[in-house]
Amino acid sequence: MTGAAGFIGSHLCEALLAQGVLVRGLDAFTTFYEPGRKRANIAHLVKDPHFELVEGDLLHARLDAALDGVDAVAHLAGEPGVSTSWGPSFDRYVDRNVMATHRLLEAAVAQGVGRLVYASSSSVYGGEADALRAEGEPRPYSPYGVSKLAAEALVGAYALSHGLSTVSLRYFSVYGPRQRPDMAAHRFIEALLDGRPLEVYGDGSQVRDFTYVGDVVNATVLALSADLPRAAVLDVASGRPTSVGTLIGLLNELVGAGPSAIVQCDERLGDVPRTEGNTRTAHTHLSWSADTSLRTGLQRQVEWHTGLRSRLASDDDLVLMPSAGS
Ligand SMILES: NC(=O)c1ccc[n+]([C@@H]2O[C@H](COP(=O)([O-])OP(=O)(O)OC[C@H]3O[C@@H](n4cnc5c(N)ncnc54)[C@H](O)[C@@H]3O)[C@@H](O)[C@H]2O)c1
Repeated sequence: MTGAAGFIGSHLCEALLAQGVLVRGLDAFTTFYEPGRKRANIAHLVKDPHFELVEGDLLHARLDAALDGVDAVAHLAGEPGVSTSWGPSFDRYVDRNVMATHRLLEAAVAQGVGRLVYASSSSVYGGEADALRAEGEPRPYSPYGVSKLAAEALVGAYALSHGLSTVSLRYFSVYGPRQRPDMAAHRFIEALLDGRPLEVYGDGSQVRDFTYVGDVVNATVLALSADLPRAAVLDVASGRPTSVGTLIGLLNELVGAGPSAIVQCDERLGDVPRTEGNTRTAHTHLSWSADTSLRTGLQRQVEWHTGLRSRLASDDDLVLMPSAGS
């Protein structure tokens, strides 16, 4: 597994270990957000004898050794973030999303890996209202979306030309315990717990197909071994698009801190007004659907935030500040 210490990756490691799978997790502990958070995500996993951590960067690590004996790869490593992908930082998105995937694909072919599942993104789609575009054709709104789409196309090319068995899963706005600190639910819950105003980009009418991390992990586990057409691409979405305003209303109820003040900030360049995944294809080919309701998933996320706060208050060894990593 690449990106094993990340938000989704750490949950996927847990699920596979629970099924008795031996997991080798590779992560570079990049500084997109505090590496200490990533170390905390997998602190319990590194004690498991069935889990092996390889600290390394896909751009430089010895991937022949990392893939030695590996049956299937879940490729979740990447540089996330839509609004941060403009300007000079696009180099980092090309490196960590495109070049890193290219290097992994070359190594996967050389090592005869049986299946590679790539974590793609709803950001490849762009806005649905664009004119002069074939239905469903991706047209990203952001450099991040472009880098995820480029990597997805590379994955497809290695499947079609080299015969590598691949599946690309387009994840939609994943939330739940350990969610990345830049993401909406994480920011809102922390602000509510602190009694700070919530910073909302735009007027809160944006709609997202929020999908619970446990459901995303289930789809990914199924994709690691399912019988699927070559170079398959599937949406992984709950199919219950919800506005940011509704999300805030639910969080207000769940945190129970009373109605929050809202600070309206400028819309972020690259954000689309609406995302809504196609749930039929994953249902047909993986027999999968996202069963967790938004309320239940958010309740679990709120509990994680409050639990982490008490652990930080009582455990001197738990530090989430940046470490000296890259
Ligand atoms: N969270 C979402 O809502 C969402 C939605 C769509 C797609 N995705 C994709 O899913 C994947 C996981 O997302 P996440 O939210 O868990 O992000 P995350 O940042 O928490 O996890 C990504 C992990 O990859 C590692 N990494 C980055 N570049 C690396 C490299 N070159 N070599 C080795 N490790 C590297 C990071 O250190 C991090 O631990 C990403 O590829 C992301 O683009 C996420």
